[in-house]
Amino acid sequence: MNYPGARGHGVIDVLIDEATLSRRVGELGRELDALYPDSANDPPLLIGVLTGAVTFMSDLMRAMDGHVEIDFMAVSSYGASTRSSGVVRILKDLDHVIEGRRVVVVEDIVDSGLTLQYLLELLRQREPRDIRVVALLRKLKAGAADVPVDLLGFEIPDEFVVGYGLDFAGLYRNLPCIAVLDPALLGERAGPHGEHPSSDPHSSGEAR
Ligand code: IMP
Ligand code: MG
Repeated sequence: MNYPGARGHGVIDVLIDEATLSRRVGELGRELDALYPDSANDPPLLIGVLTGAVTFMSDLMRAMDGHVEIDFMAVSSYGASTRSSGVVRILKDLDHVIEGRRVVVVEDIVDSGLTLQYLLELLRQREPRDIRVVALLRKLKAGAADVPVDLLGFEIPDEFVVGYGLDFAGLYRNLPCIAVLDPALLGERAGPHGEHPSSDPHSSGEAR
């Protein structure tokens, strides 16, 4: 499947197409509804992790029939070492107080699991009533942190993927599918607009 325009540049494989994404996100929405039957009195707070989770969040909440509230957090790496240390910096905190609330962390992808692990620790300290995690993608990766994901969209191979909110050097978020880029493109030090994605294509200092 070819995507016209610049957003299709370098796409060598569509891992998950639009129809499959839409079907699965619909299922996840219904599963979430079933977990919060009292949403009229006690709406869950969906917490999207910026920036990658925006597309998923937007589709997921519209797949739910119950009441929900939404909020966002932005976190960033502490430089290039973050992937191993799992220490993240909060760039944007929640607008809501979550003490006593039912919260759902909405993540685009769990790779090493360290970002999510750190985020969950941080949110637990605020004493929500419970926390669940819904992630669209999880990479099958040896040595990844054993962080619990309550609802998962898809398990994918340990490859760098873009689209549906996920970026490479800030671009490709507007691809409507989950795609694999040509590794030659990933290997370039600078992105298409001169960004330097560092040695690891997704360990920039920006919100991911
Ligand atoms: P982790 O801490 O290694 O689990 O990585 C967490 C974040 O890195 C995710 O929430 C994404 O924003 C980003 N990330 C990880 N893998 C990919 C990928 O294959 N493509 C784009 N972003 C990714
Ligand atoms: Mg993310």
